[in-house]
Amino acid sequence: MMKVITYGTYDHLHRGHIRLLKRAKALGDYLIVGVTSDDFDKQRGKINVQQPLEERIAAVRATGIADKIIVEEYEGQKIDDIKRYGVDIFTVGSDWVGHFDYLNEYCKVQYLERTSGVSSTEIRSLKIKRCGLVGYTGYMNRVYAECGLVNGLEVVAICTKDRSLLSKGPLGVPLITDDYDELLNAVDLVYIHSHPNCHYSQVKKALIAGKHVMCEAPIAKSADECDELFSLADDLGLVLMDSLRTAYSTAYVRMLLLVAGGRIGDVVSVDATCTNLNTNRLPYSLSHETAWSSMTAWGPTALLPIFQILGANPERVQFSSLCDPNDKAFDIFSRINVEYGGAVGSAKVGAGAKSEGSLVVSGTKGYVYVPAPWWKTDYFEIRYENPSDNRRYFYQLDGEGIRFEWVSFLRMIESVCEGSDGVEALRREGGIEREITRATCEAIGSFERGERVRFMEVHK
Ligand code: CTP
Repeated sequence: MMKVITYGTYDHLHRGHIRLLKRAKALGDYLIVGVTSDDFDKQRGKINVQQPLEERIAAVRATGIADKIIVEEYEGQKIDDIKRYGVDIFTVGSDWVGHFDYLNEYCKVQYLERTSGVSSTEIRSLKIKRCGLVGYTGYMNRVYAECGLVNGLEVVAICTKDRSLLSKGPLGVPLITDDYDELLNAVDLVYIHSHPNCHYSQVKKALIAGKHVMCEAPIAKSADECDELFSLADDLGLVLMDSLRTAYSTAYVRMLLLVAGGRIGDVVSVDATCTNLNTNRLPYSLSHETAWSSMTAWGPTALLPIFQILGANPERVQFSSLCDPNDKAFDIFSRINVEYGGAVGSAKVGAGAKSEGSLVVSGTKGYVYVPAPWWKTDYFEIRYENPSDNRRYFYQLDGEGIRFEWVSFLRMIESVCEGSDGVEALRREGGIEREITRATCEAIGSFERGERVRFMEVHK
């Protein structure tokens, strides 16, 4: 019996796929189809796949052409599969010519002509959403570049007060304006990275205008404001998503799962530090629209693992802050103590002070160590009393998680447009839970209102 094997993602299965599968089957008597896992696609940079693995497998199965379907999970697996299944012919489309010649050592390699005029990429791009970016810092350039990697998204407008911060790519966007209303008129969805003081009103305005919103954390400055925004989004059938790219880094997500699975026993503390020396203060000096204090720059990120691991309902949150003597609301360094019944969280944030930006999660059996900068990590360790039990974990991180956050945002919009409610869509996408968004808004807001804050002046 002549065995043939072929591989693919098969997102939105189309006539090009079916033609290829039929011709592959005709090369022999038995066809094995390898469908790439979601993780493997992510790893090899194919971030836009819209259908989950089960749906893609089901679509291939429904063609009735494959005799066996397997999942492709790792680089190098093709050699293993060819040996394991006694494969005679490996085949893929002509877009891969030459790429798999190395498999000739194990079986015959045959490239089949690709069907012209159709691809999963094109199908995904049919549902293009017009996107607007709002922000007053150079971070917009990075976001713009990441958006370019996401199918189904076109940045058509940028709202900024200072064009000189934009690089060549974003400067080519059709509409660049400092008028937020003008931006809203031109888009289907909006990403907000303005100063946190503007978030609540900008989010509300966008929702009222019927736009889906992804807004950097904190989306508001109190739990009440946060609740109001979510219920407005739900009433209007729109997605409102809290943006924190760390929550979309694979290593960080896997670390949370290991902790939840009891790998370090019961968690007793979470200690997160985030600092940088760039305060975004000059040349704008004390303009609060562009100046980011420690808490505004880092608070939501540093609180994220504390709330995600220990819960969104702490018994007490307290702050100790070193402030600019001329501007009390501008903390240069702060420590946040978050107390729970059986555990404590502690965050150190600094914009204008530097420390080791690591994350340590301590448990009754061992601890997790995520080295600096933990908020864009691709690596962590689980350490035990006996060092020979230690484990190291590495997961490729592309684009600091920004592109994955966008893919999740678009998928949530799709789910909501197909009738899911916002909470259901969020759960499916594994985004930041609403109670965490809410707790973050409340913590940052209470700091700014001066509640439970001990202010100290910086030593001269
Ligand atoms: N294929 C083909 N003709 C097409 C599209 C794909 O013969 N028009 C083949 C590919 O060469 C590959 C298999 O179908 O052997 C699975 O391809 P896949 O990468 O899943 O599909 P694409 O449409 O190429 O996906 P994308 O646009 O995401 O790259």
